[in-house]
Amino acid sequence: MELSWLPGISDGKTSSPKGRSRMTFVLPPLPFDRKALEPHMSGLTLGCHYDEHHRGYVAALNALTRGTALEKLSMRDVVLETEGDPKLKTTFQNAAQCWNHEFFWNSMKPDGGPKGEGELFERIVADFGSIDSFNLAFIESAATLFGSGWVWLVEEKQRLKVVATNNALPAITLDVRPVMVCDVWEHAYYLDHHGDRKGFVKTFLTHLANWDTALARLKSIAKP
Ligand SMILES: [Fe+2]
Repeated sequence: MELSWLPGISDGKTSSPKGRSRMTFVLPPLPFDRKALEPHMSGLTLGCHYDEHHRGYVAALNALTRGTALEKLSMRDVVLETEGDPKLKTTFQNAAQCWNHEFFWNSMKPDGGPKGEGELFERIVADFGSIDSFNLAFIESAATLFGSGWVWLVEEKQRLKVVATNNALPAITLDVRPVMVCDVWEHAYYLDHHGDRKGFVKTFLTHLANWDTALARLKSIAKP
């Protein structure tokens, strides 16, 4: 059976018994408790990020799409439908941030990070040379990204690579398969790490990154 969505990402809608999609966009549940990532990500940081920022993007998207044809689409399709349209720039930005944040929450888990074995570990060693080289590339990409954005592990033409996107731009707008992402907007780390973006990303890679979901996304037959 073909999957409709990548693991760790929904269509952004409430479910209904008959699967109808004429519903407003919803804030998807966190895959863990707000304090579950402590001490590596505080409950205060996660709570503010989810309850204020992510919730705010969902509310803005609902207000912007209410009564329009976009309201009927999945979150992914709103992103792809509005990308590049100057009249729908704010709608795109809010939909993209909704998509990015759900993907981000599911890119983390308690006691995350590489375990030194497994298929994803082998793929990363094959494409980056070593886990250390991958970590350096990911951290450097975050450190050199000017302003706010996202750092992604993606698959492009059967090879894993690291890419960074500015502001709200999601990797689904690129011709790649996103498998993991780290939010490097300041709101993701300032309360815990102040201005130390590198320190936050290093913590993400070492203690939070959900390699199980990343591998499931890599192996999924669903469209990115
Ligand atoms: Fe964020």
